[in-house]
Amino acid sequence: MEMHNARCTCRNCPAADFGANKRSIGPAIIACHRRPEIGFVDPETITFEECPQWRSTPYGYLLQNMRVMILGIDGYLGWTLALWLGTLGCEISGVDNYARRDWVKERGAHTVVPISRMTERLRAANEVLGIEVNFRELDIFNDRDRLQEFIDEIKPEAIVYYGECPSAPYSMIDVEHASYVQQNNVLGTLGVLFMMRDLVPQTSLVKLGTMGEYGTPPTGRPLFEGMFPDEAILRWNDREWNLGGEITPRDPGSFYHLSKVHDTFNTAKACRFWGLRSYDIMQGVIYGVNTPQVAADPRLRTRLDIDEWFGTVINRFVAQAVVGFPLTIYGSGEQIRGFIGLEDGMQCVTRLIAHPPAPAQYDVVNQMSGFNSIKQLADTVARIASKEFHIPVTIQRVENPRVEYDVHPYEPIYNKLPEQFGFEPRVQLDDEIYRMLELLTQPDIKQRIEEKKHLILPRTWWSGEKKLVESLEIIEEIKYEASA
Ligand SMILES: NC(=O)c1ccc[n+]([C@@H]2O[C@H](COP(=O)([O-])OP(=O)(O)OC[C@H]3O[C@@H](n4cnc5c(N)ncnc54)[C@H](O)[C@@H]3O)[C@@H](O)[C@H]2O)c1
Repeated sequence: MEMHNARCTCRNCPAADFGANKRSIGPAIIACHRRPEIGFVDPETITFEECPQWRSTPYGYLLQNMRVMILGIDGYLGWTLALWLGTLGCEISGVDNYARRDWVKERGAHTVVPISRMTERLRAANEVLGIEVNFRELDIFNDRDRLQEFIDEIKPEAIVYYGECPSAPYSMIDVEHASYVQQNNVLGTLGVLFMMRDLVPQTSLVKLGTMGEYGTPPTGRPLFEGMFPDEAILRWNDREWNLGGEITPRDPGSFYHLSKVHDTFNTAKACRFWGLRSYDIMQGVIYGVNTPQVAADPRLRTRLDIDEWFGTVINRFVAQAVVGFPLTIYGSGEQIRGFIGLEDGMQCVTRLIAHPPAPAQYDVVNQMSGFNSIKQLADTVARIASKEFHIPVTIQRVENPRVEYDVHPYEPIYNKLPEQFGFEPRVQLDDEIYRMLELLTQPDIKQRIEEKKHLILPRTWWSGEKKLVESLEIIEEIKYEASA
């Protein structure tokens, strides 16, 4: 079967030098940074399939030794991606200021899967997987000059931008935290966009947004992939407008989600103003702890948080089950969200890097492999924990500290990754929950969950109140008993 990017040409390739013929009049021609011997060529003539610099991988053709810079490389996804892409032969560089480690400490929590210090991680990546990661400790927002120098030195061919604060509750604590999250995320991104304009305008930016940017519109309007489809019509006062290509309305649910919406507009405009190229990923909630690389050695593991600020739902439910803490559903539990397994998330990003946008192209993909209600997820975790691991599990409803629709329509559209980029989901929810239970029931990890289980129940209310949520009811009928 033809690879998804086989017919891409130099127009999409980050090695193409579009400035090569600035002064010539006539059809565009390019030179190649990687193959100067070919001289000037029409950007449409050589395909990735034909070019010896692009070699075949399971995720499409990938530039040999492609230089990929990961912003936020110490995080849950950043570290996992570094090892994943390194194994595929990419030259990995990355930056981090260890903010995530500090935020979790601020709550008094810790990652329940222990992770190594960065020096140890780098050494282990080299020893175990033969991957050399070029790392710089710096703050994307506060150390702009240093980041600029690093980008200039590496000249990355793709930048994956994970380096933001990812927590909705953290952004809702008080004005200091809300301001910090928005400054860190929005102005961090703005700085990187300017750096790319000045230093590497041909590099593709894979920017992380979230499905939470869209919210859950009560009208039931489908959650299109960023922009309205060509056929969308606005009808008002006996007149009609075609909305095709316009960014769809957003209804973000926290100051964190709002920071992502602002990023969306800044990134879209930078592509328009300066011809930058970007895919903006509206990412569903990621779950899981497994890729072949992070599982290869305990020093290579990625983090897993369960506290009220940073624990995401499936990961947190599994940890709760392991220590006999009731699986806590906020409100009705009928809220529906999009999800994707860790390894599938890595596959999607790889496919996007392999298929860079054309100059000035800003596009959005909804990255998820399915959707579930929170209650369905609790049921699934409870079923697997009790049946396969003989752990009795209770599911409990608590007051909802967030302001969100408890019951709502949900029709996400997530066709582009499978249809245009060849994404094939491989992670089954049940299998990954099983693998997580295998890891989290190990005595040392179970002990780490026990130590911090008092930080699971939320105290951070969207209203600003500071109180522990109260239990509403134990849902008796889905209380599982150990089956052995
Ligand atoms: N994990 C999910 O379920 C999920 C879902 C949707 C979107 N996202 C987005 O994906 C991205 C990565 O998420 P994650 O779960 O890996 O989060 P994470 O907190 O584990 O990773 C982010 C990393 O960026 C670093 N960082 C933050 N601000 C920085 C700065 N100013 N300078 C340098 N480094 C900085 C942090 O220290 C951390 O290591 C985030 O942008 C997040 O919003 C995550």
